[in-house]
Amino acid sequence: MAWSELKNLPEALLPWYEASKRDLPWRKTKEPYPVWLSEIMLQQTRVEAVKGYFHRFLQEIPDIAALANCDDEILHKLWEGLGYYSRVRNLKKAAQVIVNQHGGVFPREYAAVRALPGIGDYTAGAICSICYDLPTPAVDGNVLRVISRLTEDATPIDQPALKNRVREELAKVYSVRAGDFTQALMELGATVCGPNRKPDCEQCPCRNFCGGYLHGTAEQFPVRPEKKGRKQENMTVLILSCDGSYALRKRGNSGLLAGLWEFPHVPGKLETGDALAVLESMGLKPKDLRRQADKKHIFTHIQWNMRGYYLELSEPGGDFSWLTAEEIRQSAALPTAFRQFFDEI
Ligand code: ADE
Repeated sequence: MAWSELKNLPEALLPWYEASKRDLPWRKTKEPYPVWLSEIMLQQTRVEAVKGYFHRFLQEIPDIAALANCDDEILHKLWEGLGYYSRVRNLKKAAQVIVNQHGGVFPREYAAVRALPGIGDYTAGAICSICYDLPTPAVDGNVLRVISRLTEDATPIDQPALKNRVREELAKVYSVRAGDFTQALMELGATVCGPNRKPDCEQCPCRNFCGGYLHGTAEQFPVRPEKKGRKQENMTVLILSCDGSYALRKRGNSGLLAGLWEFPHVPGKLETGDALAVLESMGLKPKDLRRQADKKHIFTHIQWNMRGYYLELSEPGGDFSWLTAEEIRQSAALPTAFRQFFDEI
C-alpha cells in the first residue's frame, strides 16, 4: 500500500481511540512531569507493571524540584524491579537541568525537550504531542509495526531508515489533536495490532486502507532483523547470612546495574566444594550450607546463569555491608537478578 494512505489515519483513529482507549493513570493529565515519568517508565516495561510504580513515584516525588534534589538511594528503591536503572538516574539529571537552565519549568520546545538527558526522539515526540499538542510523532516498536503493516514496507524494523521515514510521513498527517493522535497510534499498536500474536483486523479502524489487511500480508510485517544470540555469563552467587543479617555489596558506578546492591558473586557455576573454597579464601567461616538454587536473569544483551548458595557463617566478615532482611526490604535497591534469591529466604 502506498505511504500516502497514511493521510487517512487521523480520521480513522481518533474516533476509535475516543471510544476504546484504555483508562490509564497518565492519560488523566497533560502536565509534563507525570507524562514524562510515564513515558520513561513505559520504555521496555509493560503497562500493567508500570501502574503501581507510577503512583508510588509521584506520591514520594511530587514535582521536578523534588526529583532534582532526591537522594539516589531513594530513587533506586522507587525503581527497584523496573530494570534499566539508568532511566531513573537520567530522570534526576534531567530534573537538575530543568531547575538550573529552565527555571524549574519543563521546556515547551521540541529541541529543548530532546536535549534533556534520557530523552530521545520517541520520548520527546510523545511529551510534546501529548502535553503541548505539537505535531511531533512518537515512533516506537508498536507504531513501527502498525505502519509497516499498513504500508507493507519490508525494511527490517531495526533499520534507522524505517524509523526516520515513519517519523517524517507521520509528521505530515498530524492533526490538531496531536496528543490524542500519538496515543491512538500507540493504542492500536498495543492492542488490535499488538506484538507476538495475530492482528485482530476485524476490530481495526484502519482496515479499509491497510495493505496488510487488504492483501492478507499483515503477519509478514514488520520484517525482523536476524536474531543475535545473547552472551551467556555463568556465576556463583553467595547468599551469606549471620544471625539474621545478610552480606551485600554495592556495584560500581558504571556499567550494568551501576550503583545498586548485590549479593557477592564469583564467575562460573561452581560445585559446592569450590564455592566453599572461595569463602575460605575470603577469610569467611561457613557454619551451614542451607540450600542451593539455580536461577537465570535475562538482560537485553546478556543472560546470567546463576548458581546460588545459601550459607550461614559463624561470624560476619569480609568487605561487605551486613543488612537485616527488613533493612534490605526497606532501603536497599536489590535488582531482580539478585532479589529472586532473597525472595526465597
Ligand atoms: N507505551 C508507551 N507510551 C505509552 C502511553 N502513553 N500509553 C500506553 N502505552 C504506552
